[in-house]
Amino acid sequence: MALLMRFLALFTTLLSYANAISITSTKYYNISNDVEGSVHLNGLAFQQSALTTFGDYQYVTFYKTASGYGKHYVNLGRRRIAPSVGDWQYFAFTDYEQHTLDEHNTISMGISGDGKIHLSFDHHDVPLNYRVSTSGVAKTIPSDWSMSTFGGSVQHSLPGSSGPWTPLTYPRFERLANGDMLMEFRIGQSGAGDSYVHRYSSTSGQWSNVGKYLQGQDNNAYINGVTSSNGNLYVSWTVRETPDASTNHDFYFALSEDDGRTWKATSGNSVSKPITPSTAGIKVYTIPQNSEIMNQEAQTADENGRFHALMRDKSSGTARFYHYLRTSTGTFSKTAINAPGLSNPPYLAYRGKLAAKGDSLIAILPDAPKNTVTLWGATAEGNYQDWKLMATIINMAGEPQVDEERLAQNGVLSVFVRQGGPFGERKVQVWDYELQL
Ligand SMILES: *[C@@H]1O[C@H](CO)[C@@H](O)[C@H](O)[C@H]1NC(C)=O
Repeated sequence: MALLMRFLALFTTLLSYANAISITSTKYYNISNDVEGSVHLNGLAFQQSALTTFGDYQYVTFYKTASGYGKHYVNLGRRRIAPSVGDWQYFAFTDYEQHTLDEHNTISMGISGDGKIHLSFDHHDVPLNYRVSTSGVAKTIPSDWSMSTFGGSVQHSLPGSSGPWTPLTYPRFERLANGDMLMEFRIGQSGAGDSYVHRYSSTSGQWSNVGKYLQGQDNNAYINGVTSSNGNLYVSWTVRETPDASTNHDFYFALSEDDGRTWKATSGNSVSKPITPSTAGIKVYTIPQNSEIMNQEAQTADENGRFHALMRDKSSGTARFYHYLRTSTGTFSKTAINAPGLSNPPYLAYRGKLAAKGDSLIAILPDAPKNTVTLWGATAEGNYQDWKLMATIINMAGEPQVDEERLAQNGVLSVFVRQGGPFGERKVQVWDYELQL
């Protein structure tokens, strides 16, 4: 017994030197049955976002079968998360039936500072589909949660702004510190496309065109995300030459100190807009074609001015997930994620996410060969190399989404996932992890 106590004491001492991120409680919620068919429409890495928090409420958006095969409605759920967690409430937008069985045609959601909820959905090189609540429902919290409370209808332009609005793919929303919101999307096609930013004013309720900021040179940028943090807007990307993913190459980065109007390279040197793959100083890492880069993986920024990206490649001969870190003074590093027990990502396998809180970084990584999603924590103190397994979700077949706002605001990690298994059993879920950081 005494020996055991001594052993436990030693063990505890050893643990206290290791990184301290851990999970103190776990709870999950079945949100809905996933839609029928082999195509994933819920839970894709480029959705920005499917799960987000505004004030004391969390919101989730997903497709659910309307009737029969290949007919889906956009659904929107909400629940109170503070001071205590309430039940989910949902409704379907029954005035728009989604039909295209194509994994591009996901839903993105953003909430502007005036409490309006913006949704954009069902695109693969088609005109914009956009709808916005007619009032600030995320602020007023109407007791009725329904399509009529939400109001409005599907629009094909952003009111107040100017196009082009087609052929559009990959809409993303990012709220700014003052409550305005950016919308980012690609116009053009895989292998030949440009990226645009529009800005929503939370004061006027109108959009304006910030402009084209990335331009292809007979190729296109696939961004890891658009992240606003501490007054900076960060974008990182890979470039693809043709519709074939094997032609993805290199890691690029730019930042804007004026919400996308003007841009700088990582060095701090201004670059002219639109940025192209040959703009000087934009390429940070050279990674050749045929390196098994998966486009649109993940990025985030932390409260202490660091930028983090997740991208995989096989440049070492073995496919690995890499953590790209840009320090607050602008120095980049690229380090393979040595997460004990994590499978190397097979070519084109599910993509992950990153989330940051203080000096802690969490990687939410699908382990595709094991049909799991794994959560790993690393710390600045451990040079982000002390990856520690925090949790494993089993029976996964999709790409996780993370609620960055809830983590920032409440210190709770909320993850949206899609299960594996047959239609009728397969669910989309939200997992809540209370953290000790
Ligand atoms: C989720 O759904 C599964 C399958 O229907 C069920 O067994 C499980 O109890 C549900 N879990 C929760 C938390 O509702």
